[in-house]
Amino acid sequence: MGFWDRRLFGDSRVWVCGQASGDVLEVAIGSGLNLPYYPPGIRLVGVDISPPMLAIARRRAAEHSLQADLREGDAHQLALPDASFDTVVCTFSLCAIPDERQAVAEMTRLLRPGGLLLLADHVAGRSRPVRALQRGLELISVPVGGEHFLRRPLNTARSAGLDIERQERFGPAGIVERLAARKPAHQPR
Ligand SMILES: C[S@@+](CC[C@H](N)C(=O)[O-])C[C@H]1O[C@@H](n2cnc3c(N)ncnc32)[C@H](O)[C@@H]1O
Repeated sequence: MGFWDRRLFGDSRVWVCGQASGDVLEVAIGSGLNLPYYPPGIRLVGVDISPPMLAIARRRAAEHSLQADLREGDAHQLALPDASFDTVVCTFSLCAIPDERQAVAEMTRLLRPGGLLLLADHVAGRSRPVRALQRGLELISVPVGGEHFLRRPLNTARSAGLDIERQERFGPAGIVERLAARKPAHQPR
């Protein structure tokens, strides 16, 4: 991740974490690379399906003297109550979670009305040749590593009923995208 952070993802961790507030859930927190970028005063729960990744995240939290509740969990179905977070964060993981729609539906369930979903990921490129290349890559990366290149979390968040407040795309053919999407304060009847 460090390699891609330096070459491709720019200041996405600062961009995402800087908008987090209150009770924060980070889904698929991995080794905790976002931890140093959260503002003081938040209450963080981080989940990941991989115990070894969580062990690294716990070490990183301790190194930075950060309090965080880091626990094992599957993004498709998390044992957490409805509407219990002001912010949900997921960075560079919707590409790796098998059912991104189910994961975003779960993130939406866990957000309080008016809460903010913050996502950053590599996504399907703007140009046809780049998407063709990504399609070719997926022939190997999906069966071997579960890594997807043609997803668009923006559309998934819209389909989940969230309002897109901020969205930025950059990198070659716009293959990196980050967005802030709000859960409506009042659900339409
Ligand atoms: C590429 S890493 C990104 C980690 C971190 N979010 C970051 O920004 O550095 C993808 C992470 O997704 C986790 N993951 C994959 N499928 C998952 C699932 N179904 N539920 C929870 N975590 C999952 C992996 O264990 C891994 O830690």
